[in-house]
Amino acid sequence: MVTASAPGKVYLFGEHAVVYGEPAVPVAVERRARVTVEERDDDRVRVEAEDLSVEGLVVEYEGDLAGATEAATPERRAEAATRYVGEAIAQARDAADRPEAGLDVRVESDIPLGAGLGSSAAVSVATVAAGVRALGTDLDRPEVADRAYRVEHTVQSGGASRSDTFCSTMGGAVRVEGDDCTALSTPDLPFVVGFDGGGGDTGELVAGVRELRDRYEFAADTVHAIGDLVRRGVVALEAGDHGELGRLMDVDHGLLSALGVSARSLDAMVWAAREAGAHGAKLTGAGGGGCVVALDDSRATLRALELTPECEAAFRAPVAEEGVRIETESETEDGSTPEGEP
Ligand code: PMV
Repeated sequence: MVTASAPGKVYLFGEHAVVYGEPAVPVAVERRARVTVEERDDDRVRVEAEDLSVEGLVVEYEGDLAGATEAATPERRAEAATRYVGEAIAQARDAADRPEAGLDVRVESDIPLGAGLGSSAAVSVATVAAGVRALGTDLDRPEVADRAYRVEHTVQSGGASRSDTFCSTMGGAVRVEGDDCTALSTPDLPFVVGFDGGGGDTGELVAGVRELRDRYEFAADTVHAIGDLVRRGVVALEAGDHGELGRLMDVDHGLLSALGVSARSLDAMVWAAREAGAHGAKLTGAGGGGCVVALDDSRATLRALELTPECEAAFRAPVAEEGVRIETESETEDGSTPEGEP
């Protein structure tokens, strides 16, 4: 039996534009998905998920996951989460060359679902890592990231970038531009997150930006402008310049609003943070609802968000220096314990 955990993330800069080859900088934060995988005697897969916005979701299937989730899950976002788990198990079976292996999978997560904090990537990364290890195989971190990316690519019908899965695997701040992914050195970043209790539909929001970009040259220019901003943001990040980072976060939020992916609740939380004296604030992830991230080393932003009616939960989100990790592992049936990372 193996338990792996992987962190969620906030986008410091660059969501949406990253889909068109511009750079982005996600940063892993200390909210984790934990996935426990144990081999079973038959060829069935049983997925049990708690803390995924529905109570005690249990899905058991043989072969194809799609039919099973339709029948068993009442809530769409939880259903989507189960699809990520199913695809991640398929990747783990493939990596271990054990296509028929039966597995019990248990998912726990303290990352709000579909809210811009990378819940699906964290679940995918932790499931791949725990799955391969439970099947007696080891993958290095780039291989885990790549397998988890393929999970998102399949579930999101091709509309996924490598940023969430790479960031969740590696931890800290990373820079992603197309297939080029690198770890950045991460200064202390005093993130505060505000959550409106909901979330947008990533697929629809990505499609909306694509339509706008195809229709208007100035929308395509906006996407390029986000790329320029991210390049400056990397310099500010490496210099640990919180003032400049905050200014660029504010501009990024404005550009994302222009692309139609903000929401009244997100704008309310962004303004509450700014008025409380945060260096800057922006939505994080696909938008349409979900979370904002602000940069503030004082308590003022947290307090202001707590008093904002649109904000359901506000919390500090320390940077997760460590990405995916094996939390616990009991011996395999032949008595050996696989070596190596993660
Ligand atoms: O909402 P999230 O955390 O899944 O982020 C989506 C980010 C996008 O850039 C809109 C899409 C992507 O895959 O990069």
